[in-house]
Amino acid sequence: MADIVDTRTEPEVALARAADVLGRGVPVAIPTETVYGLAADATNPLAITRIYEMKGRPRFNPLICHMADLAMAEQHAVFDPLSRQIAEAFWPGPLTLILPIRPESAIHPLARAGLDTVGIRVPTGFASRLLAAFGRPLAAPSANTSGRISPTTARHVAEDFGARLELVLDAGPAVVGLESTILKVEGETIRLLRPGGLDAAEVERITGRPVLRNDTAGATIEAPGMLASHYAPDAPVRLNASDVRPGEVLIRFGGKTLPGEADAALVLDLSPSGDLAEAAANLFGYMKQADAAGAGSIAFSPIPADGLGEAINDRLQRAAAPRG
Ligand code: TXA
Ligand code: MG
Repeated sequence: MADIVDTRTEPEVALARAADVLGRGVPVAIPTETVYGLAADATNPLAITRIYEMKGRPRFNPLICHMADLAMAEQHAVFDPLSRQIAEAFWPGPLTLILPIRPESAIHPLARAGLDTVGIRVPTGFASRLLAAFGRPLAAPSANTSGRISPTTARHVAEDFGARLELVLDAGPAVVGLESTILKVEGETIRLLRPGGLDAAEVERITGRPVLRNDTAGATIEAPGMLASHYAPDAPVRLNASDVRPGEVLIRFGGKTLPGEADAALVLDLSPSGDLAEAAANLFGYMKQADAAGAGSIAFSPIPADGLGEAINDRLQRAAAPRG
């Protein structure tokens, strides 16, 4: 099992240990506000190869590169004015921008899966401290084996990777709990490649422009990792349930009870008060709890589609998608 170092009680130890392991080209699991990431030096091809191998991730699926701040990001990518406006408004935060790579960037092509664009994010919290200390971008996909639910606690990560991982930095449960929102600006158009922890309506409000969804844009999916069935718990998932079947785990919302709860294996409420941010933070952990309870299936009651509900419903659709 990996060493777990708590960044809240031992920040200096965490920084020193992470710098040592990352410096050797070995991935380290790090906390971010969205989900835990499996981080490695984005300029080191061997380190990046190790990320793909540890996750069992297809090499055509590019990694997000994390930066300490906008200034560091500008050394690696070309910002059009609209992307810069969005970055200034929402970084640090749960937002990834897809941008043209600068030819002089030291980010290795393997991290970008050979694309001429790069996904960039500036996280908050301890990750930002680590990035500033490390001084180079960290490529970090979610710290789960490919196809599984993204981890929102250090323990999830340690359990998933076992002895294959050397070090996990623990900053407590991820505050946002959903992966970042991925946007790509094309001319005057803002496209949503993945709904996530930043409500797209916030981007519309700040920019005064619509954020185009893939279906309305009539375009092909451009975040390659979004193609497969993903974010799946072990148990099959039943959406928009209006009742619970005996032995099922029910994950409900807003304190609304469903018929049949008395015979459910377990009943969890994503947010008894109906707060979508709280629901997002609980979603992945509750799916894991349902699996741990040995759920034959998981029933979800309907979740509102507005605000963060868009990203929550996106993840639920993927969890319920036919498994390949
Ligand atoms: O919140 C997050 O974004 C977390 C934390 C750790 O930062 N990371 C994360 O990474 O969710 P990952 O690898 O699980 O998802 C990255 C997504 C994939 O769907 C990938 O295809 C897309 O970003 N992506 C990365 N670079 C891209 C690029 N240049 N063009 C299009 N899509 C890209
Ligand atoms: Mg992922």
